Amino acid sequence: MRLQNKTAVVTGAANGIGAATARRFAAEGAKVVVSDRDPVAGEAVVAAIRDSGGEARFQACDVTDRAQVAALMDRALDVYGSLDIVCANAGIIHSTPFLDLDDETWRQVLDVNLTGVFLTGQEAARRMVARGIKGAIVNTASVNAVIVPHKLAAYNASKGGVNQLTKTMALDLAEYGIRVNAVGPGSVATEMFRSAMLQDPEGVERMRLRTPMERAAEPEEIAAAILFLASDDASYFTGQTIYPDGGRSAMSQMVPKRA
Ligand SMILES: NC(=O)c1ccc[n+]([C@@H]2O[C@H](COP(=O)([O-])OP(=O)(O)OC[C@H]3O[C@@H](n4cnc5c(N)ncnc54)[C@H](O)[C@@H]3O)[C@@H](O)[C@H]2O)c1
Repeated sequence: MRLQNKTAVVTGAANGIGAATARRFAAEGAKVVVSDRDPVAGEAVVAAIRDSGGEARFQACDVTDRAQVAALMDRALDVYGSLDIVCANAGIIHSTPFLDLDDETWRQVLDVNLTGVFLTGQEAARRMVARGIKGAIVNTASVNAVIVPHKLAAYNASKGGVNQLTKTMALDLAEYGIRVNAVGPGSVATEMFRSAMLQDPEGVERMRLRTPMERAAEPEEIAAAILFLASDDASYFTGQTIYPDGGRSAMSQMVPKRA
């Protein structure tokens, strides 16, 4: 068990990568605060963890609201007495041609994907520093932080921002013994992936052509990378984004077929 006696908070943990991460953390011995804006699906993740013999609680939290994020971190400290690992994972995606992207969508995506990571990291780190906890923070970026598919201006910009925020947090928090890293997944077979594909029917074939391994990842494969960064195995990693992407970032993209 790699996370024995650790308390972990995972945002966006009701579905997909966050849910797989919460389950894996609990299987590795962590006490997990499962957090999401969706309480029904979040409680179901907690129930599954408990059925498997793990320890978890649900705390509702919209990561765009500082008061809710602060309450989330306080809940972990109140219930489990520590705050060792925090995963800022909640995210949304929206596909629109750049010329049609409206202000509201731009702000919404940036608010959840980038401001949410900022608020989660800052509220967590302030409490870690105050208690002398040498914690680990893992942000969920995307391979889109470094190579970008078209029609995803807000999403791609938000994830590039997460990479730079991760590096800056790592520099500013190193003196407190807090490590900050990120994962940059390629396509992952989650609800987000399915909804992106629904907005873009040719997306599945394009995904295959852009992925040397010719498949999407399972959420558990991303959770394994997050576990590594959160664990003491990554004790000399900080300011890094690692890319479980099936080889996508190693290859050049084709110019998309035009209508
Ligand atoms: N699925 C992919 O292909 C893929 C690839 C790269 C990166 N990612 C990133 O992985 C992370 C998780 O995505 P996923 O694929 O598991 O998606 P998902 O849609 O399956 O899960 C995302 C979760 O975040 C929650 N959420 C959304 N907005 C929130 C908010 N404001 N506050 C709190 N919770 C909120 C949702 O309720 C949901 O449970 C995201 O940051 C996403 O950008 C996903």
